[in-house]
Amino acid sequence: MNTPALQASLLTKHYGSTRALDGVSLEIAPGSSTAIMGASGSGKTTLLHVLAGILLPDSGTVMFEGTSISSVGDRERSRLRRDQFGFVFQQGLLLPELTAIENVALALMLQGRSKNESIAPAAHALATLGLAGLEDRRIGELSGGQAQRVAIARAQVTGARVVFADEPTGALDSTTSSEVIDALLASTVSQGRTLVMVTHDATVAARCQRVISVRDGRIVADSLTHAPQPQPPHPAAQMQQPTYPTAQVQHTYPAVQTQNGVAR
Ligand SMILES: Nc1ncnc2c1ncn2[C@@H]1O[C@H](COP(=O)(O)OP(=O)(O)OP(=O)(O)O)[C@@H](O)[C@H]1O
Ligand SMILES: [Mg+2]
Repeated sequence: MNTPALQASLLTKHYGSTRALDGVSLEIAPGSSTAIMGASGSGKTTLLHVLAGILLPDSGTVMFEGTSISSVGDRERSRLRRDQFGFVFQQGLLLPELTAIENVALALMLQGRSKNESIAPAAHALATLGLAGLEDRRIGELSGGQAQRVAIARAQVTGARVVFADEPTGALDSTTSSEVIDALLASTVSQGRTLVMVTHDATVAARCQRVISVRDGRIVADSLTHAPQPQPPHPAAQMQQPTYPTAQVQHTYPAVQTQNGVAR
């Protein structure tokens, strides 16, 4: 079996006398989509933040692709979040004073790329999410759905292996919410990345391959949905693979590739 993208063992987390996580263990397969559901206050966000290394558990461990993230130092954990994880939240976390493209490019600049190197891939990421032409709008000049797609572009432009989303459609109507989920799945699971998403919306959850229900800090249900399940790569498909990425990358951002080639 493939190494799990994430593996949590016996996580506990308290806030004072509130037990937000009460012995949660789970494995998340690479390239899969998982929805976490549950009532308000049940521990969903806490679980997401512990899985993503934003919060440390009181006890228990989290492994990312076989390596413990709960026992590494703050710096290493920040680096992991920056390089391997992407985040999409209900709102906020896009910088309102920056334009759409600057918000996306910033994720790459935080990894050490120059602004020049970051603009072309940021533009490409926005275009793949249907936002071509809106690059220079500030976040406040976008609709809620457009702003969420900017957040998705930012979460995946860095090549994140796992995208964590907390109520990404919480502030959207059902049509826009469906479009945002389409975009989120297309830029994660369809690209071999793992998606872990907290949602209150059963329709949104059903778009994921697996739904985990949380109550009082515990997992109380865990089931597969009718969404297409992740498939192990077919040997023939694996052999063909090199032609696609190469062709795609060359067409997409030649300037950045060249600059990276020189810089690295
Ligand atoms: N920083 C904090 N300080 C104190 N208590 C907290 C803190 N964060 C969360 N809690 C408490 O921990 C429990 C779990 O909170 P959490 O945010 O994980 O719930 P949630 O399932 O995401 O809820 P919601 O659906 O409302 O976002 C709740 O009882 C909450 O009040
Ligand atoms: Mg929450």
